[in-house]
Amino acid sequence: MSEWQAVCGEQQLAEGEFQVVWDGDNAIAVYRTTEGWFAVEDVCTHDGAELAGGAVHGCVVECPRHGARFDLRTGAALCAPAYEPIHVFPLKIEAGVVYVRDDRED
Ligand code: FES
Repeated sequence: MSEWQAVCGEQQLAEGEFQVVWDGDNAIAVYRTTEGWFAVEDVCTHDGAELAGGAVHGCVVECPRHGARFDLRTGAALCAPAYEPIHVFPLKIEAGVVYVRDDRED
């Protein structure tokens, strides 16, 4: 099983902000939203753009390249031009520190 990776302190991000962490060559975008914390693959399934930096509306992030939107809770693609979901990673908060884990190889 993959290791948990520390992202940031729980108080370091405000709602609507994000932090990108790397697990090897894989970027994971961690968001603090109005509904909690979520960690997703930082790659748009339409054409590979980085999602981090795209507009965040509640629990939805909009790809900055062509405007596809993804639900940060489920990874679901919500509109064209993306149709495939992004991966959602396990996330936990312990003693005020946010951790993520890349479970794709587990
Ligand atoms: S690369 Fe994200 S919508 Fe096209």
